[in-house]
Amino acid sequence: MLTIAPSILSADFKDLKRQIRLAEQGGADWLHLDVMDGNFVPNISFGPMIVKTVRSISRLPLDTHLMIDDPLRYIEDFRSSGSTRLTVHVEACIHLHRVVERIKQEGMRAGVALNPATPASALKEIIPFVDLVLVMTVNTGFGGQEFIPSMLAKVREVADMIGKTRRKVFLEVDGGISERNAGELVRAGVDALVAGHSIFSQRNIPRAIRNLRSAALQ
Ligand code: DX5
Ligand code: ZN
Repeated sequence: MLTIAPSILSADFKDLKRQIRLAEQGGADWLHLDVMDGNFVPNISFGPMIVKTVRSISRLPLDTHLMIDDPLRYIEDFRSSGSTRLTVHVEACIHLHRVVERIKQEGMRAGVALNPATPASALKEIIPFVDLVLVMTVNTGFGGQEFIPSMLAKVREVADMIGKTRRKVFLEVDGGISERNAGELVRAGVDALVAGHSIFSQRNIPRAIRNLRSAALQ
């Protein structure tokens, strides 16, 4: 089962409710919510208040991607705002194991994300504890960037590490995902595709999601 998680970062916020409905109509499995603090990444996006707003609009699982320093401080806020999954960056956590355990104690699924320059080996000690690994395929912080082709090799490496755990761990990619690269990513072992620009920049959002899915499964 392929999971498609549209990133609302590229949605038209003045029409957010309708854009989310269109994503639902197109068969979105999760909604991906990009939280940026202006420190861990240069950009600032939104926080728990918008997550709560999206929760009130949609019943889809909310896949919240925290691009913030010291995320431990905000785990409870994102749980109470309605996140289903919470993903933190390995680069942002000194005590990553504690953070992952706290996310699970709060009743959410825990994910860890790797920036492009962080090797797959950074996952070695934490992979037995997580529900999801997010491989960033652009430099974290902005929507609409170009996919970095060398990330494909890292995806294969992470897929192999996940296979060895003999547990269900979602392998998600995020950044520059489109019909052009979805197929080879899925063949490399990806089971969750995040896409912002390639979905919300299209005139027909449901069709963009359906096209992405069929390209991915070819
Ligand atoms: C980037 C974010 C992404 C972004 C993806 O730092 O984590 O989720 O919204 O957007 P596209 O698909 O436009 O690259
Ligand atoms: Zn993201």
